[in-house]
Amino acid sequence: MQINTVELKNFRNYTNSTIRFGKFLNFIVGKNAQGKTNLLESVYLVSVGKSPKNSKDKQIINFNAENAKINLEFSCLGGNKTIQLYLNKVGKKAIKINNLNILKLTELVGCLNVVYFSPDELKLIKEVPEDRRNFLDISISQFNKPYLYELLKYNRILKMRNQILKSNNSNQSKIEQLALFTPQLVESAEKIINTRLNFLNKLKDIAFQIHQQITQTENLEILYSYTKPQNTTIKQDLTNQLNAALEKELELGFTTIGPHRDDIIFKINNQDCKFFASQGQQRTVALVVKLSLMEVIKNEIGEYPILLLDDVLSELDTSRQERLLNICTKYQTLITTVNIPQTNLDYTTIKIENGNVVQ
Ligand SMILES: Nc1ncnc2c1ncn2[C@@H]1O[C@H](COP(=O)(O)OP(=O)(O)OP(=O)(O)O)[C@@H](O)[C@H]1O
Ligand SMILES: [Mg+2]
Repeated sequence: MQINTVELKNFRNYTNSTIRFGKFLNFIVGKNAQGKTNLLESVYLVSVGKSPKNSKDKQIINFNAENAKINLEFSCLGGNKTIQLYLNKVGKKAIKINNLNILKLTELVGCLNVVYFSPDELKLIKEVPEDRRNFLDISISQFNKPYLYELLKYNRILKMRNQILKSNNSNQSKIEQLALFTPQLVESAEKIINTRLNFLNKLKDIAFQIHQQITQTENLEILYSYTKPQNTTIKQDLTNQLNAALEKELELGFTTIGPHRDDIIFKINNQDCKFFASQGQQRTVALVVKLSLMEVIKNEIGEYPILLLDDVLSELDTSRQERLLNICTKYQTLITTVNIPQTNLDYTTIKIENGNVVQ
């Protein structure tokens, strides 16, 4: 997959610019506050439908304009495609794929595949389990639409089950209502957990290799917090756990067991990264996970997604930079940087000044 051009109109500090990309390594270079990160944000936005910074539409539109437009042209196994996104300060956003309006955001997911890394992605290692579940859900949904629909279904059932637990009804009537929803919940939970385990199984082997390639000394392990039971099914195991937790859940008013509570554990040389790894080690793990995701998606859809790397080079020593750039020449990579590093690799330079391409 490759982006050919991105046209930005009143998007952040871009009033009217068209940016052309090279097929492989692209350095988006410029001084601070010129629009490098904004450019990556525009690509992410048309891929996933929301800003990586979780910005509101209003914040994305240029300060002096009422609406913004992104027009992105890309090539993939399915041929040449376009995605257009219109944002309005008052109205809803509109998205077109190949000039046809889409009605739901779920139609956009998986059309243009990107993998995004910024210093903020350290949250994948350091922050709350929700960040890691989001990583799982967004990553898997890019190549597995049924998973996305299953997730939406699970969240609907979970919401209803929590409403019952929270209601003012008697415990007896709550238990009767739960008898309807708990089997539906565990059925959907089993599908979600199985898909996540399957995905992590593929990711962990690739991540181990790439991590060794970059660090040359450390062993990376990736684990899921829920372990598949030995002598029973996931469905039965979760049913047993929910039955045992019933009294507590009636008191708390929400569901305490299921994939909405699960987590990923990263370990280097057998130590949990969240608690023991240095800042640099955590950053490297987060980056390695994203590089591995490139390979997993490629194996699933038959072609590489596009890699977006924001501000990654300044954080790495020169030998890690070199090893990273070597890996990145396999696919289209857009890297923002203040200075282009010394390298013998072929690359395209995109120089940004105040929301304009200057070359
Ligand atoms: N809605 C908006 N309208 C106009 N300008 C905006 C808007 N939102 C953000 N900006 C401006 O965009 C500028 C560039 O932001 P960006 O994060 O892309 O810089 P950068 O080139 O990545 O810089 P750095 O090297 O510091 O990361 C900022 O100065 C910011 O004020
Ligand atoms: Mg930036």
